[in-house]
Amino acid sequence: MSDVPDNAPAHCPGTQSEDAGKASACAGCPNQSVCASAPKGPDPDLQAIAERMASVKNKLLVLSGKGGVGKSTFATQLAFALAAQGKEVGLLDIDICGPSAPKLTGLEGEEVHQSGSGWSPVYVEENLAVMSIGFMLPNPDDAVIWRGPRKNALIKQFLKDVVWGSLDYLVVDAPPGTSDEHISIAQFLKAAAAPVAAGSSGRNIAGGMDAAVIVTTPQEVSIIDVRKEVSFCRKVGLQVLGVVENMSTLQICADLR
Ligand SMILES: Nc1ncnc2c1ncn2[C@@H]1O[C@H](COP(=O)(O)OP(=O)(O)OP(=O)(O)O)[C@@H](O)[C@H]1O
Ligand SMILES: [Mg+2]
Repeated sequence: MSDVPDNAPAHCPGTQSEDAGKASACAGCPNQSVCASAPKGPDPDLQAIAERMASVKNKLLVLSGKGGVGKSTFATQLAFALAAQGKEVGLLDIDICGPSAPKLTGLEGEEVHQSGSGWSPVYVEENLAVMSIGFMLPNPDDAVIWRGPRKNALIKQFLKDVVWGSLDYLVVDAPPGTSDEHISIAQFLKAAAAPVAAGSSGRNIAGGMDAAVIVTTPQEVSIIDVRKEVSFCRKVGLQVLGVVENMSTLQICADLR
């Protein structure tokens, strides 16, 4: 269960936060006094995330500063390529407002099924599992108009409740920029790594997010925002594996004009 109530204000810090009931966003919230006085403790969801992610060897986050540069295309192709090499692969689409994974994997119209052990991802093939909010919308044209806390809660559920099984790679397709979704995934995985690591022999079992790949196009406006993504990765302690320059030939065509 999320610690962010459904009727929470936009920047609700969560009922378990030390700031619960005290943050500026709490002013006027009907739950303010309850949150302020309720006992706080470690978020039990983090342990659940750590346990679920312990069977995922590598987690790669695909980022970009600008939208439409080919993140989802790259993330999907990477997932397919790794699966073709015989790896066990998961593709997690955390673009809540603009999910692309169902279309790009040819799984449009598929639904997520729930079992006693959690949500079953949708499979392209035996070793390639996909999860996206796109599988949960009654109508694919429905707009998802969610504020940060609700998006964060769903991302938490994607990490905690999806039965990913043992994976060699979890490829995460992010929306553009450095917003709620990016902060959530980096923080949840990092925080979830800590409780498991504390009881271990010093090895970080859950591992947090392992690395990021930044996608750009050759245009200056896109490259400027790559620097912002690199800076984001540094701030959240995420190694940058590389920068992919997509659609390079489009630049050549433009230069010829
Ligand atoms: N190398 C390429 N050559 C031609 N078209 C491409 C290439 N890469 C991506 N595209 C096309 O560009 C469009 C945008 O790609 P995509 O959805 O992967 O971008 P995105 O960065 O995920 O976008 P968003 O920021 O909205 O999530 C799509 O129509 C895709 O098919
Ligand atoms: Mg995309």
